[in-house]
Amino acid sequence: MSLFRKKSVEHMIAASAQNAGLKKALGALDLTFLGVGAIIGTGIFVLTGTGAVQAGPALMVSFLIAAIACGFAALAYAEFASTIPVAGSIYTYSYATLGELAAWIIGWDLMLEYGLATSAVSVGWSGYLQSLLSGFGVSLPVVLTAAPGALPGHETWFNLPAFLVMMAITALLSLGVRESARINNIMVGIKVIVVLLVIGVGVFHVTPANWHPFMPNGWNGVFGAAAVMFFAFIGFDSVSSAAEEVKDPKRDLPIGIIASLGVCAVLYVAVAAVVTGIVPSAQFANISHPVSYALQVAGQKWVAGFIDLGAVLGMLTVILVMAYGQTRVIFAMSRDGLLPAKLSKVHPKFATPFFTTWLVGIFFGLIGALVPLNVLAELINIGTLAAFSMVSIAVLVLRKTHPELPRAFRCPGVPVVPVLAVASCLFLMVNLQAVTWVAFVVWLLIGMVIYFGYSRRHSKLAK
Ligand code: ALA
Repeated sequence: MSLFRKKSVEHMIAASAQNAGLKKALGALDLTFLGVGAIIGTGIFVLTGTGAVQAGPALMVSFLIAAIACGFAALAYAEFASTIPVAGSIYTYSYATLGELAAWIIGWDLMLEYGLATSAVSVGWSGYLQSLLSGFGVSLPVVLTAAPGALPGHETWFNLPAFLVMMAITALLSLGVRESARINNIMVGIKVIVVLLVIGVGVFHVTPANWHPFMPNGWNGVFGAAAVMFFAFIGFDSVSSAAEEVKDPKRDLPIGIIASLGVCAVLYVAVAAVVTGIVPSAQFANISHPVSYALQVAGQKWVAGFIDLGAVLGMLTVILVMAYGQTRVIFAMSRDGLLPAKLSKVHPKFATPFFTTWLVGIFFGLIGALVPLNVLAELINIGTLAAFSMVSIAVLVLRKTHPELPRAFRCPGVPVVPVLAVASCLFLMVNLQAVTWVAFVVWLLIGMVIYFGYSRRHSKLAK
């Protein structure tokens, strides 16, 4: 039974009420900015190429499928996040509702989401930095431009720019630099302008003949690409996590969630239409900066250069947000005794988990330097989708076990919406590659070994 031991929900709510220092200041528009800032990144700027090869011009449909799945999951997530308004991730929420083992699994999955996402976005950043530099006639030795095996036909050893950007972000985080609302708004502006530029300029270079055949690999290609492109929407959970700081959660949360997903979905579909209309989809294989590449092919060298610059700047915040999220999950797990205490030690001067920040920075920096992007993206997606399925189930469980709890936001259409969330997450998971499943199962097994070998006995709740 100890596997299901839970933190008390009432206790957690009381504790959070005591130190409710967070101001309720966010409205629907702020939430939308928050979401868009965390969402737009490597997915649209880089994975669009992989997706186009897989789905063809029907990549537009893949984006829509992924967006709908995210919408269901986000609504369920928002209820969960607003019921137990403890600043923190779904790891914390699930500890109180599903019990320790499920919380451990979710926390362990979140490491795939946040940790590997920092690696993945740093790889995307590297591709655009290299494209930007090549505009100035600067190029790095090929062996230092990508992970081994990431560039067929070339010998590559190490993605140096990806590693260096992780070290830079790690240094900032370890010194206590966090993303501020102002920086986020500036970055959102830059990213949205860049994307609109792609659409506005690119549309004049579209050759509709490139949209035929629309689905070169049939529905399999479309669903497979949807499962990969789910990555491009990761970050929408940041809106739900802000539940506690929202002025009128009942109204603002659903608007913020739907608006940020909607804005991104519309932009993504338009970008997919434009780039597959400029360049025949199959030609995107092995292009690490597909969006600016399409504009280069169209002869718009200056616009392509702007896109490179905007992507390089805009992706920095995604790395920062994800890396911060990662240290927070580890911090929380360590404070609960599930991971060694050293991991939640706070630096006396910088007031940050200094050791943990550098540990994960170096670890995921090396992964970004050594593992190809598409492998990383699939792993991130499977971990995130699994975590969101569990959260959606938790919403149903909590309605049964704790019907009386005040819920700042109630998911509409229960039980249908959470059930659809689980179903669509599972559907996308099924469409990931077999090797991703193998890696995921291995990851879970390692998690189980650590849980039963260490965490179960060291859990603070056990004492
Ligand atoms: N959605 C984020 C990105 O595409 C993770 O970079």
